[in-house]
Amino acid sequence: MCGIVGYVGSKPALDVVIEGLARLEYRGYDSAGVAVLAEGGLAVTKRAGKLVNLREALAERELPPGTAGMGHTRWATHGAPTDRNAHPHVDCSGSIAVIHNGIIENFAALRAELAERGHTLQSDTDTETVTHLLEEEFAAAGGLAEAMRRVCRKLEGAFTLVAVHAADPDVVVGARRNSPLVVGRGDGENFLASDVAAFIAHTRQAIELGQDQVVELRRDGVTVTDFEGKPGEVTEYHVDWDVSAAEKGGYDYFMLKEIAEQPRAVADTLLGRIGTDGRLTLDEMRISDQALREIDKIIIVACGTSYHAGMIAKYAIEHWAGLPCEVELASEFRYRDPILTRSTLVIAISQSGETMDALMAVRHAREQHARVLGICNVNGSTLPRECDGVLYTHAGPEIAVASTKAFLTQLVAVYLIALYLAQVRGTKWGDEVFAMVQLLSGMPDKVEKVLETMGPVRELARSLADEHCVLFLGRHVGYPVAMEGALKLKELAYMHAEGFAAGELKHGPIALIEDGLPVVVVVPPRARAVLHDKIVSNIQEIRARGARTIVIAEEGDTSVQPYADTLIEVPAVPTLLQPLVTTVPLQVFACELATAKGHDVDQPRNLAKSVTVE
Ligand code: F6R
Repeated sequence: MCGIVGYVGSKPALDVVIEGLARLEYRGYDSAGVAVLAEGGLAVTKRAGKLVNLREALAERELPPGTAGMGHTRWATHGAPTDRNAHPHVDCSGSIAVIHNGIIENFAALRAELAERGHTLQSDTDTETVTHLLEEEFAAAGGLAEAMRRVCRKLEGAFTLVAVHAADPDVVVGARRNSPLVVGRGDGENFLASDVAAFIAHTRQAIELGQDQVVELRRDGVTVTDFEGKPGEVTEYHVDWDVSAAEKGGYDYFMLKEIAEQPRAVADTLLGRIGTDGRLTLDEMRISDQALREIDKIIIVACGTSYHAGMIAKYAIEHWAGLPCEVELASEFRYRDPILTRSTLVIAISQSGETMDALMAVRHAREQHARVLGICNVNGSTLPRECDGVLYTHAGPEIAVASTKAFLTQLVAVYLIALYLAQVRGTKWGDEVFAMVQLLSGMPDKVEKVLETMGPVRELARSLADEHCVLFLGRHVGYPVAMEGALKLKELAYMHAEGFAAGELKHGPIALIEDGLPVVVVVPPRARAVLHDKIVSNIQEIRARGARTIVIAEEGDTSVQPYADTLIEVPAVPTLLQPLVTTVPLQVFACELATAKGHDVDQPRNLAKSVTVE
């Protein structure tokens, strides 16, 4: 939440910062602002609304040229999204500017103290307190970096802060605690950003900062310390994707591009993990086979779409690995007293690796000595660093706020883990496991096949643009798929949408069915006859009560045809792998319906990509 860019070099800072903000807008789009150090002073422009408003303001009032600066795109927490509350915030003397991502929890007390000491705060934000605290510390500290260290020691909560001072025109200072900040190392120029996407057009060399660190950025160097001033340990890495991955590549929306990229993303996540003998190799996970053999329980924690991947993982782990598995929303898990031991494996799933609830759940698990394995898409993010091991998904950068390709690759990752557990623990499912590994290799083609047949789904979505409610039903792994379909529709089309377990229908939700109500039903493969036949009965029950049935079933399933007002066919695959093909039409459906309503599917209202606050 909130995108941050900082730059020091020889290029016009404003251009670099605006270009970076454009790539980070997915992190928040309530307001945007920039500060440039130029001609011995500090020039700031900020505007409520999307980046386009800031660009317009800059076109009217050009900032003086400068080669150091910073920018911010905001997801509002404290204070309404107005010009006044937009970042950067400037101190009383007009020399210091600060941008921030996160929440400063003790800001009310700090603000009251500042007011007592004669500061006049202009905004309703927690961020502005930092600006004034820096103003107080700057002279005594003898520099911005030391002032930042002193201020950070007074702050509680989660924050990424970036500051500049007019008196130090070649320096940008950053700080982080529980919130993302990476350094981009260039040739005669350096960058700070919430995400490497902001500087990937300039450098692919990045530095992963640790917890509670302050970084001083100069044109020719980067100095990292902890909050006390001791040299900080950092990890340098090379970003393995390039600028084209962070661009729309001819699509109207990132979401459309990311949906289309799914076959490749699935293939990349499988790459190098299946040996020629059909055995899986997941050495990079950093948890030994012996440790995996000692596990007696798995708990999966995640939020939103990643939680749905976790729900599907439960079916796969219990079936293939024969281990008890619970799935829990990270935001709930962290406030419970779960019974964990050294033989519990907690799996935390997070695309961004920065979701605050997921991070806190990981810490909660580790405090109780459980082993923790992360499934993450963003190299250099916080979550993998805090886990005992990590399995990266290789979806590439996901920029649209709604998760699509990350979800499919999370599914691949959980299948790999479930099958690997079966392999190392030698469960009774040996032959089936071997066959599944082979089938997984063929999944990119199946996903491609689904994408090739999406024309009628788009047409259907457009025809439903004026509806107010859509329900989704599924059984077994089709249940989390139904929940995912509903979540996509809520967040993109702002429609009431719910996903139910079809078996629960008669326990309440069937009362919602009325004439013409669209109900999407995810049908399991015919090979799972018991599940399949039960859901066919459910379709008949809702149809008898007037529902308009939209049925997703495997190709050739003639038994559902008589009860389907619309039939969407997907390739036949085993039940546990079916979410890889049944989710795709639901993504396309939500995306098309939302665009038919005129919504910006990349930046749905009120949302941001990385939820770095609770
Ligand atoms: C929905 C969506 C969110 C995220 C959730 C967790 O389309 O994208 O529900 O899945 O905020 O985010 P990560 O996976 O980054 O922890």
